[in-house]
Amino acid sequence: MLTEIQFLNPSINEEDCQAALRVMRSGWLVLQQETEKFETAFAKYLGAKHAVLTNSCTNSLHLSLMVAGISPEDEVITTPLSYVSSANPILHCGAKPVFVDVELETGLLDINQVESAITDRTKAIILVHLYGQMADMKSFQKLAAKHNLIIIEDAAHAIEAARDGIQPAALGFSACFSFHVAKNITAGTGGALAINDSTVAERAKILRRDGVKNIGDTRRMLALGNKYLATDFQAAMLRSQLERIDQMWQRRQELYNRYAQAFSELGIAFNQVAPNSRHAYHMIVVWVDPVRRDFIRKMLFAQGIQTSIHYEPIHLEPFYREKFGFQKGDFPVAERLGASTITLPLYPSLSNEQQDYVIRQLSQLIVLQERSRENVWVSSF
Ligand SMILES: Cc1ncc(COP(=O)(O)O)c(C=O)c1O
Repeated sequence: MLTEIQFLNPSINEEDCQAALRVMRSGWLVLQQETEKFETAFAKYLGAKHAVLTNSCTNSLHLSLMVAGISPEDEVITTPLSYVSSANPILHCGAKPVFVDVELETGLLDINQVESAITDRTKAIILVHLYGQMADMKSFQKLAAKHNLIIIEDAAHAIEAARDGIQPAALGFSACFSFHVAKNITAGTGGALAINDSTVAERAKILRRDGVKNIGDTRRMLALGNKYLATDFQAAMLRSQLERIDQMWQRRQELYNRYAQAFSELGIAFNQVAPNSRHAYHMIVVWVDPVRRDFIRKMLFAQGIQTSIHYEPIHLEPFYREKFGFQKGDFPVAERLGASTITLPLYPSLSNEQQDYVIRQLSQLIVLQERSRENVWVSSF
């Protein structure tokens, strides 16, 4: 039988299903106790004061920008090397996304290029903790304080991460998380933001419910919000997964380390862990010759191995090209990484045998064939 290794395999167990079912049977489906219980547990896990459950990371970013008062005329700096959701919410506020290129070694926003992109209209920076590697929050916070900017963390990949002992939300204005099906804990879709300021958290809760608040026996609309609610059965299955989040992280760490050892020996470039970091091990990517990337993926697929790409840069998406006139060459490092990336399977239920098979097939495609062509591209990273 042909080997088949899925790119994704969410770690949902029987207890998670039972937790969701109990809520469904209770009839208390939205904005009830399970939402509050998850928010309390999630904030505690992060060491943050408050967490607000939403229906996506995208909308958590939008809520963060709204509570921060981002409006038309404002500019927000972010990375082109991410999913479109890191930038789209800026446009939903009527503001302008300003992309800055990334570091070649990590794919994270390049702090050395950020300062020259700051104008008197810049109000915020959205940092993406790419693949589970946190950005250098201490340095970014220093820069933000100097220019009176706020930092919003796109921590969709980074629930379990820390750098210099700092977790997401510790220094930023808010940190936003995703519970989309590919993420480290999932409810199919879903998200949250973590915030330390109680007034801001309260405002985010009002805005996620159309701007409406219960006052006594009535509901009053206090601001223009949107419908960004998740359900209590999603909250229940997330809280159930949160209980074993570190156990799942540990298995992904083992798998990452096995990949890392093999790729280091073979001279294959991959995303590294920065010093003083607890990586969330959300993704492992290898960077290969862009000319052969799609061929390698096709060959892996033919061998039963599903892979993905994270990310083809946002500025080259048709919508962004048309709206802003972006072209190839505008952010060369993000483009180079985007064109050479292959994201490999990395989830707790991946067995060592399956992983060995992935490594074997990949090394045959990259190393042996590269060597035979005397191609030194890979080692140029
Ligand atoms: C870095 C990053 N930011 C934001 C998002 C959007 O998350 P959601 O699907 O929860 O809106 C994703 C999801 O893929 C992501 O990978």
